[in-house]
Amino acid sequence: MTIKIKTAEQIEKMRVAGKLAGEVLSMIEPYVKAGVSTGELNDIAHDYMVNVQGTIPATLNYRGFPASSCISINQVVCHGIPDPNKILKDGDIVNIDITVIKDGYHGDSSRMFEIGQVKPYAHRLCQVALECMWLGIEQVKPGATLYDVALAIETHAHKNNYSVVEEYCGHGIGADFHEEPQVLHYASPDLKSIVLKEGMIFTIEPMINMGKAGVKVLGDNWTVVTKDRKLSAQWEHTLLVTANGYEALTLRDQETPVLPGQA
Ligand code: MF3
Ligand code: CO
Ligand code: CO
Repeated sequence: MTIKIKTAEQIEKMRVAGKLAGEVLSMIEPYVKAGVSTGELNDIAHDYMVNVQGTIPATLNYRGFPASSCISINQVVCHGIPDPNKILKDGDIVNIDITVIKDGYHGDSSRMFEIGQVKPYAHRLCQVALECMWLGIEQVKPGATLYDVALAIETHAHKNNYSVVEEYCGHGIGADFHEEPQVLHYASPDLKSIVLKEGMIFTIEPMINMGKAGVKVLGDNWTVVTKDRKLSAQWEHTLLVTANGYEALTLRDQETPVLPGQA
């Protein structure tokens, strides 16, 4: 019912956790190449979290999820289960979603990777999905509503003839992985009553589809795919509402906002 306002101490811990989540995604980048399996990538991420960072992989055994990352290829929307038999190939687009726990607090972030030469339409989907996330993030400030965030995302997706997944959403985050509020990425009128306040922390993680918005869950009870089997792309950051805007807690070194009309 209520959205937690984090204390200064909690915010500092969320900064640390967020930075560590971003560092896993930076660390893994050179390994994300044709020929590697998603199982191997998960093992590399797991080892780094546990043995280098001293973080806990939050997804491992979360509601029974069997791995330390979610790795979602092409038509897989989210919650792809890493698998030693699933090999990345030239032309694939891949989301890796990492959530770490450090000192009791969660950092959650994901990004797309393009494997080798991808088709121009696949590259464009990844780019527009990235812009959708940042357009949503740019709305974040005290007094704005989650409707503003969702409308910015949905408008850009629709302008590009893409659709926005409705069944999965961003979320408050802190000592718990998934807290209130639910951060829907489509312009549901219900979001108009969720007003942002300094000290709130939540994720924005739009899933953008090339075809229709519909999704279904495979028989493993985790893997979410597009119903029409067309491509889907997702990016995610964990955001803090500050006095006059936002702080992206999971921002990676060298990463800057990507908005439409840039290069
Ligand atoms: N990291 C995902 C998110 O962004 C959640 C994954 S839950 C899992 O909310 F169980 F699938 F790992
Ligand atoms: Co999340
Ligand atoms: Co995530």
